[in-house]
Amino acid sequence: MGSSRNVAVFGAYGHTGRFVVAELCERGYVPLLLGRDQDKLLALVEAHPGLEARQASVDDPASLDRALNGATAVINCAGPFATTAAPLVEAALRAGIPYVDVAAEIEANVDTFAHFAERARAAGTVVVPAMAFYGGLGDLLVTTAMGDWTAADEAHIAYGLSSWHPTAGTLAAGAVSGQRRGGRRVRYTGGRLEYHDDALPTLEWPFPAPLGPQSVIGEFTMADVVTVPSHVAVPEVRTYMTAKAAEDLSAPDASAPTAVDERGRSAQTFVVDVLVRSGGTERRVSAAGQDIYAISAPLAVEAVDRILTGRTRTTGVASAGAIFDAPDFLRALSSHLSLHVPLDTRV
Ligand SMILES: NC(=O)c1ccc[n+]([C@@H]2O[C@H](COP(=O)([O-])OP(=O)(O)OC[C@H]3O[C@@H](n4cnc5c(N)ncnc54)[C@H](OP(=O)(O)O)[C@@H]3O)[C@@H](O)[C@H]2O)c1
Repeated sequence: MGSSRNVAVFGAYGHTGRFVVAELCERGYVPLLLGRDQDKLLALVEAHPGLEARQASVDDPASLDRALNGATAVINCAGPFATTAAPLVEAALRAGIPYVDVAAEIEANVDTFAHFAERARAAGTVVVPAMAFYGGLGDLLVTTAMGDWTAADEAHIAYGLSSWHPTAGTLAAGAVSGQRRGGRRVRYTGGRLEYHDDALPTLEWPFPAPLGPQSVIGEFTMADVVTVPSHVAVPEVRTYMTAKAAEDLSAPDASAPTAVDERGRSAQTFVVDVLVRSGGTERRVSAAGQDIYAISAPLAVEAVDRILTGRTRTTGVASAGAIFDAPDFLRALSSHLSLHVPLDTRV
């Protein structure tokens, strides 16, 4: 029997999945632990006695249906999402439950909007891709910075990461996206995604204190170029990454994150600094916190909580900024994120 507190987590034993499971428990939900590897599921149950594990494979729709039986929503943490998103969205639609994922893969996120927008809307259900650090947080910040603007000329999202120790899932997702692009780079300009072979520029980004100015790689394009223009009229969306973190990510000996606190977070810190420009006017908002994987859990779980309690603005496939009250959402995460709103930006 299902309960309204049962939330399925696919990829529950992955690095991000574990943060999501812990966050659901902390918020009084009962995670259903889903994944393709029975042994890894059983090991996770040892850490969470009393929780139910269900083995399921994206190649076997019936196993997904059994796994989602009684779930009130599903959070997909299993990437590469090029492989997992469509089968899980299909299963969520069959089950008639909301779907949220943490996909940071631009092409997979585009596919989710393209393939499921009409069916999800017709079913009156909700599909929220990229509801995580990349794609979700930036979109909430852009939407917050926009305030009463309905359009802007440019949106800039600068990632000030102290370091980036990537998980195996991040590296696999990057490799899949790279293959899908034929090794080309991607940027969002003139109101569309553009594939190119230009070298990426290095520039200085003026992060707010205490981080201050940092060397960043320009056009280090992240999932925000899908989520932001999905609902904001803005022809130019650019994302930037601190040069140090970009170097870490591409290092041949890139190492996985290691826990430094009781919540399992790494020592990595981040600032996401957003600037929107319309005519001659700029508005800025930034958020700071610890560990880009860990913060993805309260983002995804807050999203599910809002969906399940009717605090949404639309149905169908929608990004965080489109479906939620962005400033209110960010305020709700105040124990995880510190917001910096300059005086000339009203929220
Ligand atoms: N948007 C963001 O900011 C954000 C934040 C966090 C994570 N992510 C993304 O989330 C994904 C997972 O990241 P992670 O840090 O949790 O990595 P991870 O620790 O390596 O975990 C990957 C998880 O995905 C599962 N998985 C991979 N391919 C699968 C498939 N075909 N079918 C079923 N399960 C599959 C793995 O299961 P097995 O062990 O059985 O292979 C494992 O549970 C990555 O794509 C990452 O980029 C995005």
